[in-house]
Amino acid sequence: MPQWHPHREQKNLPDEFPVNPLFSRQGEVTIPRLRIGDQGMLPETAYQIIHDEIALDGNARLNLATFVTTWMEPDAKRLYGESFDKNMIDKDEYPQTAAIEERCVRILADLWNSPNPDTTMGVSTTGSSEACMLGGLALKRRWQKLRKSKGLSTDRPNIVFSSSVQVVWEKFANYWDVEPRYVNINPDHPYLDAEGVINAVDENTIGVVPILGVTYTGVYEPIAAIAKALDELQEKTGLDIPIHVDAASGGFIAPFLQPDLIWDFRLPRVKSINVSGHKYGLVYPGLGWVIWREKEDLPEDLIFRVSYLGGNMPTFALNFSRPGAQVLLQYYNFLRLGKDGYYAVQKTSQENALFLSKEIGEMDAFEILADGSDIPVLAWKLKEDYTPNWTLYDLSRQLRTYGWQVPAYPLPADMEEITIMRIVVRNGFSRDLAHLFMVNFKQAVEFLNSLDRPVLKDTKYDNGFHH
Ligand SMILES: Cc1ncc(COP(=O)(O)O)c(C=O)c1O
Repeated sequence: MPQWHPHREQKNLPDEFPVNPLFSRQGEVTIPRLRIGDQGMLPETAYQIIHDEIALDGNARLNLATFVTTWMEPDAKRLYGESFDKNMIDKDEYPQTAAIEERCVRILADLWNSPNPDTTMGVSTTGSSEACMLGGLALKRRWQKLRKSKGLSTDRPNIVFSSSVQVVWEKFANYWDVEPRYVNINPDHPYLDAEGVINAVDENTIGVVPILGVTYTGVYEPIAAIAKALDELQEKTGLDIPIHVDAASGGFIAPFLQPDLIWDFRLPRVKSINVSGHKYGLVYPGLGWVIWREKEDLPEDLIFRVSYLGGNMPTFALNFSRPGAQVLLQYYNFLRLGKDGYYAVQKTSQENALFLSKEIGEMDAFEILADGSDIPVLAWKLKEDYTPNWTLYDLSRQLRTYGWQVPAYPLPADMEEITIMRIVVRNGFSRDLAHLFMVNFKQAVEFLNSLDRPVLKDTKYDNGFHH
């Protein structure tokens, strides 16, 4: 796979570039690219240079690859503009922001059916990645304490998840010295299954991490069945293995669209849950949450205290300083939307996902793998033997010519020979845009089908991207 190297790309550009002297102050005529200039420049000049350069970024509204919110309504933007100076760690200086964070924790604990939503522990984070690290660390510490109390070795902790986990869990295992045990997916079980979990766990397993909304395809892993299998294992062997649910996307979908699905703290084995506020929580980038089932599920010795209104307040985070504005935006959404509003937004996204699945599924070329019935994400593959002339990577490039960003990428081990394409339908991708997308999608396929030989290209550019 080719490595796009930002530094090499920069080095291919001239070290300095000139600006039009008519629109800049004297002395601002040439600007060094890779050093801080000796003098500053007018704010307008700095603004214009960066404004022009980021015009080369993709259009966020046409970005069907990301899970992350790219649109909020004007009042939310106004609030954002009024609060981007808040630092989340300064609880004493911004006590109301701290109080609102605390309120959001209670709201999420209640939404996910914690038995003690008023007293349990939870924190905001920069995203699900930080939230997963904290959830994983709590599992590791709990396991270490239990083992030490019995005089047993704590040398070889492991953690169990499917091969389709998001990269953050690979990072967790790597950074915190925990052996990752992957249960490989297969066509019969394209997600983590109870049998695979039971075969993978042992006395050194700190926890099992099923995903509510697999990143690759959007499908829910069967959390209740996995919990049941672990209950049975405990009855037989005494091994009590906790579950952390990675609900990065599904944590803000299932409570509204599938309220009867049992995946959360209604299962006593589920000890912690993370979600991205900046995905289906509908907040701009920079927000995640992790909530523990009950206070006791977060080992006390991981908690630090920061001063707050003459006393102190417990926190657990990797960052110290962090923007507080997104937390306020999360609370804005809770107030503004209520359960009805969240339902309406998520249902609209789901209906648009189902609409696209139907349209794409009716085309000769494709087979739908996930239609958006779990989270509003659809994924499809090219039918076997459909054409030797083009691949989904070519289709992805072709769609880019209209501005649409739709990723193509291989599935994880043991299904890596299958390439899929995925669309994440988010708030702001309207039915009107979905119709317009389908026009371009069919044009792109028609163009590729008109080729009488394979697309000429170097396959090293067939690199997928996903989030
Ligand atoms: C299942 C899952 N877990 C974790 C993450 C990481 O989330 P974030 O980007 O909020 O750090 C993602 C992102 O797509 C995800 O899909």
